[in-house]
Amino acid sequence: MGEPICIKDFEEFAYKTLPRNALDYYRSGAGQQETLANNKRAYSNYRIRPRCLRNVAETDISVTVQGEHVSMPVGISPTAMQRMAHPDGECANAKAAQDMGTIFILSTISTSSIEEVAEAAPRGIKWFQLYIYRDREVTRQLVSRAEHAGFRALVLTVDAPFFGLRLADIRNKFVLPPHLKLANFQGTKSTDINKSKAGSSLNDYVNSLFDQTIEWKDIAWLKSITKLPIILKGILNFEDAIMAADAGVSGIIVSNHGGRQVDTWPASVSQLRQFQGYLIIIDFISFCERLFYYYCMHPLLLLEKLTNVNHQNSYY
Ligand SMILES: Cc1cc2nc3c(=O)[nH]c(=O)nc-3n(C[C@H](O)[C@H](O)[C@H](O)COP(=O)(O)O)c2cc1C
Repeated sequence: MGEPICIKDFEEFAYKTLPRNALDYYRSGAGQQETLANNKRAYSNYRIRPRCLRNVAETDISVTVQGEHVSMPVGISPTAMQRMAHPDGECANAKAAQDMGTIFILSTISTSSIEEVAEAAPRGIKWFQLYIYRDREVTRQLVSRAEHAGFRALVLTVDAPFFGLRLADIRNKFVLPPHLKLANFQGTKSTDINKSKAGSSLNDYVNSLFDQTIEWKDIAWLKSITKLPIILKGILNFEDAIMAADAGVSGIIVSNHGGRQVDTWPASVSQLRQFQGYLIIIDFISFCERLFYYYCMHPLLLLEKLTNVNHQNSYY
């Protein structure tokens, strides 16, 4: 195979080169992977409406997201443990996003630390994806480090109090290879995931450390410890979007976590229609070679409109 030149080529390359433990982790959805398959199918239902004679000598697909000028309506979603695929992992991805003038979101459970990524891409627009740990001091420190390192938004993932049952990871007894660690942590929070267990070490890690009790009131707590805008990732319905606006967040990402959480959830893109006219959709292309179409509008517009709907129409 020559140099990969498109997403499919990269996917084939990954299939040939990655160890099974990593490949299955990157490519798998939850359960029977119906939602994952639906995600892909749903995109193929969309068609580009052709127009002509429009002077395309100069084109500009830049958008404004959270007040930032972004070169295109495509960004890089948070995906965990990228150094299993390449020694530079998240740092390489962050640099690529910086070069392309778009947003890079770093996962909490990354194999490059907040500080390493900040150093690798000092000029890039970087957001930090947050999982809330039961130990709130751990969470507070993550937020504070992201702020200090120049990350410009927090992306709180709200669809993953537990992780989905990814059957391949259970069968493979997924572990993070021993030369890698969860780089944002010290001690067992960093290395427990390297230890072989009965099933997936990732699920054990999440079940034992993430806070499964979080609810809407915890957004207020998060707001109290940060000045960064908060974006909720993993909203799939309009009622939750309204509650997000009421909770004072700055945006939402409509997402089913790439079909990796609950199998049978609807395809993310199929849910967009209910938000039409109200919403910033930031539907980010994933590390794992999934191609999406994107809709972007200004987030403040979203919130203003959502607030209006809420108060004028008593939506609940
Ligand atoms: C390998 C892999 C790892 C991921 N890790 C995370 C993560 O750490 N945090 C997170 O919020 N989402 C994670 N995601 C989900 C992606 O951010 C993104 O939501 C998904 O790939 C695209 O599906 P969507 O259109 O439903 O959002 C991961 C996805 C993949 C494929």
